[in-house]
Amino acid sequence: MTISDPDTDRRVFRPTVLDLGDALLRPWGPDLDVPGGIGPALTAAAADPAVARWSPLSATGQVVVETYLARCEQYWADGTAAPFAIVDAADGSLCGNAYLGWTNRDDGVAMIGYWLLAAARGRGLASRATTAVTRWAVEHAGVRRIELYHAVANEDSCRVAVRAGFPYEGTLRGSYTYDGGVYVDEHLHARLASDPFTD
Ligand SMILES: CC(C)(COP(=O)(O)OP(=O)(O)OC[C@H]1O[C@@H](n2cnc3c(N)ncnc32)[C@H](O)[C@@H]1OP(=O)(O)O)[C@@H](O)C(=O)NCCC(=O)NCCS
Repeated sequence: MTISDPDTDRRVFRPTVLDLGDALLRPWGPDLDVPGGIGPALTAAAADPAVARWSPLSATGQVVVETYLARCEQYWADGTAAPFAIVDAADGSLCGNAYLGWTNRDDGVAMIGYWLLAAARGRGLASRATTAVTRWAVEHAGVRRIELYHAVANEDSCRVAVRAGFPYEGTLRGSYTYDGGVYVDEHLHARLASDPFTD
């Protein structure tokens, strides 16, 4: 007998815009536009040393950008992931990325990740975007648990996790390779839908 969780049916991410005040989270997709174009902005992000090390992108050409945007559009269309561009509220420029995707939809478990362009760091955008996406996913998509993984050496990401209310749960040994080579240890952080939001 299959026991179906009544929440599974509402576990779909539907396109939305989240307002952080000084920035907006907008669904990635072919309709998204930023000053100067998505291609150059993604290429700049891909070339950033910290992004290249901890959140590698392969946005080196127009075809790749188009493929990336089409894939994001498909994620939104089938509700399996919620990839957001973080854009400046004043001028629309690209600040970064916040991605939420199901890892086990039946169990209500999702995973979150992010990166920021260097110029957008230091103002809490990653932490605030992570909190906003988490709250939205809990309230509108039946998320029960959100996990956040980062390499042990990525202390900036560890601080984002803690600031966003994702306590450290443990260290995973040799769990991930960021460059296709050595597998490194990662911290697992997570928050539950039942964890209170403090803001
Ligand atoms: C990880 C990464 C997103 C962190 O960026 P960040 O700007 O340090 O993080 P936040 O946007 O949360 O900003 C936090 C900083 O803004 C400050 N800040 C200012 N206003 C703030 C506010 N309203 N709320 C929270 N923090 C605020 C904080 O004090 C903190 O500064 P500090 O580190 O000097 O204490 C960035 O380093 C990055 O893109 N790295 C490469 C990609 C990557 O590692 N992705 C994660 C893979 S797991």
